[in-house]
Amino acid sequence: VTGEAEGRPLAPVVGMIGAGQLARMTCQAAIGLGIGFRVLAGSARDSAAQVCAGVRVGDYTSLPDLLAFAAECDVVTFDHEHVPGPHLAALERAVPVRPGAAALRHTQDKLAMRERLATLGVPCPRYTPVSDLAAVTAFAARSGWPVVLKAVSGGYDGRGVWICGTPDEAAEVLGHGVAVIAEEHIDFDRELAVLAARSPHGQGAVYPVVQTVQRDGICHEVLAPALWLSAGRAREAQQLALGLAAELEVTGLLAVELFETPRGLLVNELAMRPHNSGHWTIEGAVTSQFEQHLRAVLDLPLGAPGAVAPQVVMANVFGGPDPGVYGRYLHVMAADPGVKVHLYGKQVRPGRKIGHVTVAGDPALGDQLRERAGRAARYLATGKD
Ligand SMILES: Nc1ncnc2c1ncn2[C@@H]1O[C@H](COP(=O)(O)OP(=O)(O)OP(=O)(O)O)[C@@H](O)[C@H]1O
Ligand SMILES: [Mg+2]
Repeated sequence: VTGEAEGRPLAPVVGMIGAGQLARMTCQAAIGLGIGFRVLAGSARDSAAQVCAGVRVGDYTSLPDLLAFAAECDVVTFDHEHVPGPHLAALERAVPVRPGAAALRHTQDKLAMRERLATLGVPCPRYTPVSDLAAVTAFAARSGWPVVLKAVSGGYDGRGVWICGTPDEAAEVLGHGVAVIAEEHIDFDRELAVLAARSPHGQGAVYPVVQTVQRDGICHEVLAPALWLSAGRAREAQQLALGLAAELEVTGLLAVELFETPRGLLVNELAMRPHNSGHWTIEGAVTSQFEQHLRAVLDLPLGAPGAVAPQVVMANVFGGPDPGVYGRYLHVMAADPGVKVHLYGKQVRPGRKIGHVTVAGDPALGDQLRERAGRAARYLATGKD
């Protein structure tokens, strides 16, 4: 507990397993709400461990480490989906775990996710589990090349996703020896994402639908709301997210990644934690996704999810050859005082996601939001305009 008055706790302690940038930004929200916040970090140098007052260094694959952490918390949640399933079940016997193991399974196992979505009648790309090249070529005979092979578990930021144009490429992926599913390659018009929150007593809230722009499988840019999205389609996506959150009994945030195609919306994947597509909410929404996640896992009433500007643009900052990012603040901040800069305290490596920038405004008034966000993110990464 964060403090005591006459022996009674003043505020509960939320524990987050994982100490990356999502935990770091959740910590900021916990500070604002005046609740306790602890992280289980792999190392004291992790992004959240650098700034959070309650850090336990431990291994999220070790049950004793998880249980020792749980003993310090009133409720446990996650900044990633990599805690082994059997450990989650044991953790649930010790402390409220939100989201719970049964819900989390749909983010840990892409085959389980696809099967459940199919049962629920949710449109998805065609898929099949595959264990050898014959199965991949049989699948391709029906859905065509390229075939997308995806690691059943453990992927993130496009690692674990292989777009294979030929049987030879598929054979090489199968040679890695990881369990994969084959998926139909979707020639989508664009990618969307919708973020909902659900609390244990069943309250739901959903954010405006956003457009995400991926390069090499990694999100580079988020436009909130998605450009030129019809009200009907936006509502469809929001209802899909709220319905899935209820159906899967999610507690906390649920991010639904979508492909927009001529045949309608298809679900790409699910995440049950703060999500890169929701970073814009820090400045751009009444309630940030990080605060919303805390409210939801504590079973508090949810905050209003509406945007505070007609258009908000977030651009990720990736490491470049020169790690001196702070040295470039002067130029970026002087050039555009409306740009909000977030750096995660991560070691700069080329291509690594190290921060993001957000700008909000009104395109109808001539605001060039994508250009402004893109320029700031690029300059922070490379020092070049
Ligand atoms: N079936 C598909 N057809 C076409 N492109 C795809 C398909 N599946 C994935 N992609 C592309 O690869 C990207 C990453 O895929 P996915 O979201 O499944 O992987 P991930 O590594 O779990 O991603 P992350 O954790 O970053 O969201 C997608 O955003 C999309 O651009
Ligand atoms: Mg994804």
